[in-house]
Amino acid sequence: MAYRDLALEIVRATELGAIASSFYVGRGDKEAGDKAAVDAIRFYMSSVVIDGTIIIGEGEKDEAPMLYNGEKVGSGKGPKVDVAVDPVEGTTVLAKGQANAISTIAIADEGAMLRPGSSFYMDKLVVPRAAKNVIDIDASPTTNCRRIAAALDKDINALTVCVLDRPRNAALIRELRQIGVRIILIFHGDVAGGVSAALSTTDIDVLYGIGGTPEAIITAAAVKSLDGGMQCRRAPQLESERDRLKDEGTDIQEVLELSDLIRSGNTFFAATGITSSSFLRGVQFKSHHIVTTHSIVMRSQSGTIRYVEGIHDLRKKLTGVSDLPFSLTPPSAP
Ligand code: FBP
Repeated sequence: MAYRDLALEIVRATELGAIASSFYVGRGDKEAGDKAAVDAIRFYMSSVVIDGTIIIGEGEKDEAPMLYNGEKVGSGKGPKVDVAVDPVEGTTVLAKGQANAISTIAIADEGAMLRPGSSFYMDKLVVPRAAKNVIDIDASPTTNCRRIAAALDKDINALTVCVLDRPRNAALIRELRQIGVRIILIFHGDVAGGVSAALSTTDIDVLYGIGGTPEAIITAAAVKSLDGGMQCRRAPQLESERDRLKDEGTDIQEVLELSDLIRSGNTFFAATGITSSSFLRGVQFKSHHIVTTHSIVMRSQSGTIRYVEGIHDLRKKLTGVSDLPFSLTPPSAP
């Protein structure tokens, strides 16, 4: 299998993850929804011809029985790669049936992904290609937004900035309101926000503010393929996170460029919508057995972006084997 075929392999895995978890949309059980996707993705990834190591996964081994950080994935043959996987990015919005839940996987050459260590939160700034040379996370939001608007040839009040709605981003939101940009506040799912910002085809121009570190590294794989701009800085939220980073000798002031988040120029990114976001439709049930999926898959070396529409018949062998060790049927009603 050619290395480039990996793009289509990982999108099959995210499609399965999205379908398996989609039965849990709005059912209020984020753990069950996440587990359904984890089981499906882990099963599919075991047949993918890579010698992969999970760098960003479901957590440390003692808390995550599957897809844990450091776990080997793939057939063990093929290229040695780093893997970042989030079977459900946005577990809470999945459980509430709200926008922005996606199933996503990123792959890069072995050793290329930033090891997050004890960093759980990062300040992030993501923009499309046309604005990639004007951002400076050290400058104020006002300065950055003015520069980005100019680079995109927009008035400041036509610039649309996506921010995670959290108290820690309140000062940023206040400043953005003062300068008059349009703001899309999201409850969860800043990978979808970041990818939407880097794509020039959505209504979002910028992702700004503090969100998860694992999500930053996954987003970086997409931004690389899209040739967008991204800068981050670790933003520990608790004293314990700050102390651990200090013990690890990490400079929390360091500005992380895209090339620090993922060091190689060879990345793959796939995402399938579970619920709809500004760049992907969610899983749709057309009948009892037929579901449709909407995915995006990208490869940085070629810069190719593909949108993949999937029509799946759940009565058929979606993965090529009959005895699936996970469920593609609705959970029974309580
Ligand atoms: P989960 O999928 O683990 O629920 O994370 C969703 C998410 O909203 C990310 O998109 C975001 O980066 C992070 O959580 C923000 O963390 P927190 O909810 O602690 O503010």
